[in-house]
Amino acid sequence: MVADTASYHRIVLDSRPAGRPTADNFRLEEVAVPTLEDGEVLVRNHYLSIDPYMLGRMSTGVSYAPSQPLGEVMIGEAVGEIVQSRNKEFPVGDHVVGQLGWQEMALSDGQALRRVDIGAAPMSAHLGVLGMTGVTAWYGMTQICSPVAGSTVVVSAAAGAVGGVAVQLAKAKGCRVVGIAGGSRKCKYVMESLGADACVDYKKHADSAALGRAVGSHAPDGVDAYFDNVNGWMLDGVLPLMNRFGRIALCGMISRYGDTPMQLSAHSYLLISRLRAEGFIVWDHLDLWPQALQELTDLLQSGSLRSGESIAEGIEAAPAACIGLLSGENLGKQLVKLN
Ligand SMILES: NC(=O)c1ccc[n+]([C@@H]2O[C@H](COP(=O)([O-])OP(=O)(O)OC[C@H]3O[C@@H](n4cnc5c(N)ncnc54)[C@H](OP(=O)(O)O)[C@@H]3O)[C@@H](O)[C@H]2O)c1
Repeated sequence: MVADTASYHRIVLDSRPAGRPTADNFRLEEVAVPTLEDGEVLVRNHYLSIDPYMLGRMSTGVSYAPSQPLGEVMIGEAVGEIVQSRNKEFPVGDHVVGQLGWQEMALSDGQALRRVDIGAAPMSAHLGVLGMTGVTAWYGMTQICSPVAGSTVVVSAAAGAVGGVAVQLAKAKGCRVVGIAGGSRKCKYVMESLGADACVDYKKHADSAALGRAVGSHAPDGVDAYFDNVNGWMLDGVLPLMNRFGRIALCGMISRYGDTPMQLSAHSYLLISRLRAEGFIVWDHLDLWPQALQELTDLLQSGSLRSGESIAEGIEAAPAACIGLLSGENLGKQLVKLN
């Protein structure tokens, strides 16, 4: 979809989803390109980041961030190029990442923009492995899971954006890594492309006990660290496998977004096994972002980290990409490439 030079397309949230979102929760609009005030820049977005947290923002339920207002541009990170500038900090031609929303053009006062070096990696990587996704995996893995060589690390949603980086970071530390993912195609990817030692297809297991047995069969010495992207029944299945003084990075709860919360039945293992389970939000740790991005860049450039991506084309594809992410269609980071 191509707008003329005086207008561009954007997607607004039209109604709140009841459970998981559907296409009619979104509306495509064509609007006029704004005129810049002093201090503002106009960014032409090249890639949109599609993330599970968007479901939480679409609802009015309890969350760590306010809800997305109806009738306004869908929130979300994007990477793009500055095409007009009245801000000395950000000249035309700079490439930036920011909360620029699901739109082809975005106006910004520059305050929350992060300049990126597209010589270091392709533009899309700055939303994935060298962006919020990569830093999330880095924080949970290095600051909470604290893996040491020879220990066993389990990662759920291992074929996804954060999980895929987490698997590779643990492998880079010399750990035995067991992934959990939905389907044989994803498990093949987790093992063959990301280097995990084993991967359990959770769709073959009816309950937490069966899942736990399957994961345990690949972790003969128990589990030292669990990077949890899923919560619910999957956390319940892994908890009994944890070794004493094990660590659990509570990164996400994707099995529970938009659904009825589930009670944990294995929480007593937190005490019995003296576990440290810590929830985190990557935005609380901005002080560590420079270190994380440097380490991730080094690993990417040395070939120890690969950047898996699923790319949908065109602004009109964003709602389906978001719905698809929540039903597990993506392999690696889900992005939308704008024309
Ligand atoms: N704490 C933070 O600061 C932070 C920051 C970013 C992301 N996160 C969290 O990290 C997790 C991964 O995010 P991501 O961006 O990397 O997304 P992603 O893993 O690329 O995509 C989501 C994946 O979750 C899996 N999934 C969906 N519904 C599921 C269910 N009911 N049960 C089990 N798996 C399910 C699907 O993979 P399968 O086909 O394998 O099921 C899907 O591909 C999410 O929980 C997200 O909220 C947290």
